Amino acid sequence: AELNATLEPVESKQPLNHVSVRDVTILYGTETGTAQMLAEDLGEKIKEREIEVNVSSLDDFKPKDLKKVQDLLIITATHGDGDPPENAISFYEFLHSRKAPKLNDVRFSVLSLGDQSYEFFCQTGKDFDKRLEELGAERLYARIDCDVDFDEPAAEWVEGILQKLDESKTLDLNEGTRPLNVGIPEEKSVYSRTNPFQAEVLENINLNGAGSNKETRHLELSLEGSNFEYEPGDSLGIYPQNDPELVEEIISELKWNPEESVLINKQGERRSVREAFLTHFEVSRLTKPLLVKAGELFHNDELTTFLNESSDDEIKTYIDGRDLLDLVREYPPKDVVPEAFIGILRKMPVRLYSITSSYKANPDEVKLLIGSVKYPGFRQEFAGVCSGQCSERVEPGDTLSVYIHRNPNFKFPFDPNTPVIMVGPGTGVAPFRSYLEELEELGIKGKTWLFFGEQHFSSDFLYQVEWQRWLKDGVLTKMDVAFSRDTSEKVYVQHRMREAREELYQWLQAGAHLYICGDEKNMAKDVHQTLVDILVDQGNMSQEAAESYLSEMRKQKRYQRDVY
Ligand code: 2AM
Repeated sequence: AELNATLEPVESKQPLNHVSVRDVTILYGTETGTAQMLAEDLGEKIKEREIEVNVSSLDDFKPKDLKKVQDLLIITATHGDGDPPENAISFYEFLHSRKAPKLNDVRFSVLSLGDQSYEFFCQTGKDFDKRLEELGAERLYARIDCDVDFDEPAAEWVEGILQKLDESKTLDLNEGTRPLNVGIPEEKSVYSRTNPFQAEVLENINLNGAGSNKETRHLELSLEGSNFEYEPGDSLGIYPQNDPELVEEIISELKWNPEESVLINKQGERRSVREAFLTHFEVSRLTKPLLVKAGELFHNDELTTFLNESSDDEIKTYIDGRDLLDLVREYPPKDVVPEAFIGILRKMPVRLYSITSSYKANPDEVKLLIGSVKYPGFRQEFAGVCSGQCSERVEPGDTLSVYIHRNPNFKFPFDPNTPVIMVGPGTGVAPFRSYLEELEELGIKGKTWLFFGEQHFSSDFLYQVEWQRWLKDGVLTKMDVAFSRDTSEKVYVQHRMREAREELYQWLQAGAHLYICGDEKNMAKDVHQTLVDILVDQGNMSQEAAESYLSEMRKQKRYQRDVY
């Protein structure tokens, strides 16, 4: 309480080293770890200013401590249809409930992370921002909503925050020093998200056999010389490259010189038009903000009319399945120079893939499992940018720009006494192969249970030989498989879980950790509901009690999901 500073200058009679700056609390809501990374980086910068700072996830923060908070900074992602991320749910609910206290002495600011191509862009951040204001808190710095290329807006927010904190500090005449405990930074690779490593492709094979509807790529990349380390559950970020044919078509449609040099960022870097379209900007999909900017830039009356006269739904229908080539063909820009055109495009989003190998077992390599996705398009069916590149254009000997993306919310126990249940149909099985390979490497044998599902046994049983070997060696205790299209009725992983409900409940009661990886919209929702049903059935619980059993597990980090 004695740290409770005011913004007014206070009398300077106190000892010089009296500390009266306000404490900062940084809370993050993260799905893949980006918000956490930003929160921790900001925490370090604030510490360097000798300001007391606490960094934690929204859900690890005790709601009753909210009353003691002084400067509150929230960095949060948004999930799916505008929902809070997993580790922000309970705090979000608390803050929006009647139990939330008045926050008249609190100053706050929100940084929200999101994706413009979703309807409820940055919704969670917007909600926190609005609610904190309603509760009487004072906005320290305006909220910034970041699209997938968050670097620049996030840096702007951080700068803004630091400046505000510095201002409050200089207002305080009694600024003193306080002991610092900035840890020694661990030795890191020089390569990172902003300075990716060029990894050589060693292997690129399709794991699906003849007759399959799927194409799932197993990629092996060399990390030699990168100094990268990773743990099971972490992902690899890839900077993909657009389809060169599409890029050439766009450039020739615009009648530009592909070699003309253009500015590609605020740091003043320049690239040729071709290079900019190939690797730096998104050309394979349209978003509403892009269309609006095009409306201002293109001097195309038809586009202006279309935008003025169309409802949101009509615009959405237009965007769906169209790419930049469709746009410039249908609404050609007039008198637009390449640099201005590029200025309205969205930076190429990075793709994250769950790593399927163990670092400890292969320190110089990283392996990925990439499902090839196809979308119905306006001109033709088109492939996902990165998965299309990996399935159609990447060969051994090529390089990919990559970095390790830590996922602190998908971590395994490595404890022979802690049972582990893993649910990973399709490419969702990737992190579980990584975990089992690492257990094997470390010689740890405990209780492990894998649920895997795919369409057909004969063509889609990804990594079949390895699961069988680990079952034999005791690295994997149990495995249940669900091949959905081999029988007249669909069988999914959750059906196998239901069949095994008695044993599954025993494992949970014995303290098992449960992991789900893979499709979010259908699979993860259905598996969650199945878990509720199993708890109701086996534990004689009400639906509500089953839900809170699972949220308790989530709080204890015993229920973790990596869903997409
Ligand atoms: P399907 O394609 O035959 O519907 C990996 O993609 C596996 O997940 C496939 O066997 C797929 O089955 C299955 N799957 C599809 N929807 C699912 C759901 N809601 N829950 C669990 N598995 C699902």
